[in-house]
Amino acid sequence: MSDDTINTRKTEHINIVDKAHGIDRKKAYFDLIRLHHRALPEIDYSGVDPSLSIMGKQLSFPLLISSMTGGENSLIEKINMNLALAAQETNVAMAAGSLRVIFDNPKAEKSFHIRQYAPDTLLFSNIGAIQLNCELNTESCKKAIDVVGADGIFLHLNPLQEVIQPEGDTNFRGLADKIGNVVRELDSNVIVKEVGSGMSCSDVELLISQNVKYIDVAGSGGTSWSRIEHFRQPGDDGNSLGITFEDWGIPTPESLIQLNKYKDKITLFGSGGLRNGIDMVKAVILGASLCGIASPFLRPAMNSCEDVIKVIEQFKLEFKTTMFLLGIDNFKDLMGNQSLISQSYY
Ligand SMILES: Cc1cc2nc3c(=O)[nH]c(=O)nc-3n(C[C@H](O)[C@H](O)[C@H](O)COP(=O)(O)O)c2cc1C
Repeated sequence: MSDDTINTRKTEHINIVDKAHGIDRKKAYFDLIRLHHRALPEIDYSGVDPSLSIMGKQLSFPLLISSMTGGENSLIEKINMNLALAAQETNVAMAAGSLRVIFDNPKAEKSFHIRQYAPDTLLFSNIGAIQLNCELNTESCKKAIDVVGADGIFLHLNPLQEVIQPEGDTNFRGLADKIGNVVRELDSNVIVKEVGSGMSCSDVELLISQNVKYIDVAGSGGTSWSRIEHFRQPGDDGNSLGITFEDWGIPTPESLIQLNKYKDKITLFGSGGLRNGIDMVKAVILGASLCGIASPFLRPAMNSCEDVIKVIEQFKLEFKTTMFLLGIDNFKDLMGNQSLISQSYY
C-alpha cells in the first residue's frame, strides 16, 4: 500500500474519532464493579501516593497515553508533540501510533521523534503485528523503536479492523510464531495489545507459549474501530459490517478478570473504555499495572500541551481520591487487591 494511502488513512481516523457520532461506545463496563467505600479510611489524603515503578522508570500514577497517531502531516506532528510534552511534564507513559508508515515514507519519521519532548518518561513504539505476515520483521521493529527512542514496542492485533477495512490484511495464519521471533530477537520490551476487542485466555496462552511477557487487553467499551472503519468507506454501499460488529469483543474488565489466572507469567495492562480515575483504580485492582487511555486525549492534543495536562491532572485527582476512599495510600497495596471489590456483576 502506498505511503499516501497510509498517511491519508491516519488523518481520516483522527477526523472520524473527533467528529463522527458514537465512535466512543461509552459502555461504562467498569460500572459493573463496585468498590468498598471506607467512611473511616484511617489515612491522610495528603499522604496518598499513586506513583509506581515499571520497566525501570518511575511514573506519577499508572497512566499510559495509548497509541494514536503518526505520519507526514503538521496536525499529526502537533498531536504527538503535545502528548509527549504533557507525558514528560506529568510523568506518565505514552505510546506512539503505528510506525508502519515510515517504511514507505521516511518523511513521516519526524512525527515520531517524540523522545526530544519527553527525555525521561516511559515511551513506546507501535506496529501492527499483522505486518509481520507482510513486509515487516524484527529489523523493522528495531527501527521503529530507534525512531521513537522508545523503551519498548507495542505489537497490535486488530483482526476485526483489518476485515472491515477495504484494504485490510487478513491473513493471520502463523502470526503467533512471528511474534515469538520478535520477542526472542529483540533486545527490548514487547507488549502485545488488541485495539478495542480484548484478549481471551486462548490468545494469552498462545502468547505465553511464545515468551510474551506483557499484554495489554485493549478491550471493548470505548473506541470502536469497527465503527471508525465503517465511516471511512465512501458512500453508502449497503455494507454495514462495521456497524454490526461495532460492540464486538470482550469488555475490558471482563478480559482482565479472565486473564487474572496468568498473573505470575505476564504483566497485564488494561485499556479500552477507561474514562476516569475510578475506572483506572478498578483496572489496577483487576491486575493492570498500567491503564491505557486513548481517545479522550485526541481533541486536547489537537489544541495544546496544556489541554492534555489538564485531562491528565483530572484523571490523577480522581485516581487519588478513589484510593483515599478505599483507605489505600500506596500503589503496591492497590495492585491486584481484589478484597477492595464489594460487588462484581461479572
Ligand atoms: C485516533 C486513534 C488512533 C489509534 N491508532 C492506533 C495505532 O496506530 N496503533 C494501536 O495499537 N492502537 C491505536 N489506537 C487504539 C488505542 O491505542 C486504544 O487501544 C483504543 O482506542 C482503546 O482505548 P480508548 O477506548 O481509551 O480510546 C488508536 C486509537 C485512536 C482513538
